Amino acid sequence: MVKRIEKLIAEVSAFTADNVQQLEEFRVKLLGKKGDLSLLFEEFKQVEGEAKRELGQKINVLKSRAQARINELREALDSRQVGAAALDPSRPGTADYVGTRHPLSVVRSEILDIFKRLGFAVAEGPEVEDDRHVFAALNFPPEHPARDMQDTFFIDPQPADNPALLRTHTSSIQVRVMERQQPPIRIVCPGRVFRNEAISARAHCMFHQVEGLYVDRNVSFADLKQTLLYFAREMFGAGVEIRLRPSYFPFTEPSAELDVSCSICGGKGCNICKGTGWTEVGGCGMVHPNVFESCHIDSAKYSGFAFGMGVERMAMLKYQVRDLRSYFDNDVRFLRQFAAAV
Ligand code: DAH
Repeated sequence: MVKRIEKLIAEVSAFTADNVQQLEEFRVKLLGKKGDLSLLFEEFKQVEGEAKRELGQKINVLKSRAQARINELREALDSRQVGAAALDPSRPGTADYVGTRHPLSVVRSEILDIFKRLGFAVAEGPEVEDDRHVFAALNFPPEHPARDMQDTFFIDPQPADNPALLRTHTSSIQVRVMERQQPPIRIVCPGRVFRNEAISARAHCMFHQVEGLYVDRNVSFADLKQTLLYFAREMFGAGVEIRLRPSYFPFTEPSAELDVSCSICGGKGCNICKGTGWTEVGGCGMVHPNVFESCHIDSAKYSGFAFGMGVERMAMLKYQVRDLRSYFDNDVRFLRQFAAAV
């Protein structure tokens, strides 16, 4: 019996398998229910006395060598398979993820493109601004609440006559352009703005706006209305309507809020428009004569309209984004959804 076991041990060490099937046959022959080892164990039961110890040890050696050899051969076969697949030159390649444009960039260019088609040029200005360009020249009285520390991020140290601050709106750019250029002026001004607000799903301390300004002789409120209607239809679809609600801004008179009929429910009322059928997208109005005077433009000769809209708001309506924070979290699972929006 010892001889048989030793022969089997030698067989195990010498065994090689070309494929999984051969290996499996070998395993069944040795370790299977009716395999060599079971038979040996059966015989072993009958053995008596001193010989039993030695035999038992031998059988155990055979069993562990057989298991080790089988595992070793299986791993070798597996890795050979993986190796072969990796080398297969006919397999199709895996495409790398190349990134997408941010939804805010997509919507920003869409807005700008619409106005460019109407002959508007793009103008930009600094994010770190001063009181004159953000407030004073835009006809904000000195005690106006928008200058309050709660809304505006001021920058230290403060020049007392013209404090440095982060712009709270892109209307500051219209002042910069009017300071250096006489009418006709036709510009759209995109940019990031900052307000000291608690961050939530509906508010953020940083967001984006596009400001528009049109100054020439005989510019009227009808021109403003027609421009905004054209914009809304290009942006949200030919079927949308606009609504101008009387409002107040220091830098325009008259002033209005711009509503667009809800493009999600077609104006019937849904949870995006809170059942009203309308969604607010920005403010607008006729440039206040005081603003022209601060920029040395003759308000008797020229008139103009201005508007300002929120890019996040536009993107929310277009893509039904429900939480403002998702724009800035930069979670790729959110961003990848805009892969098709180029
Ligand atoms: N600057 C305003 C804001 O941030 C938006 C705005 C309203 C801009 C009316 C305009 C305008 O040019 O005419 O809330």
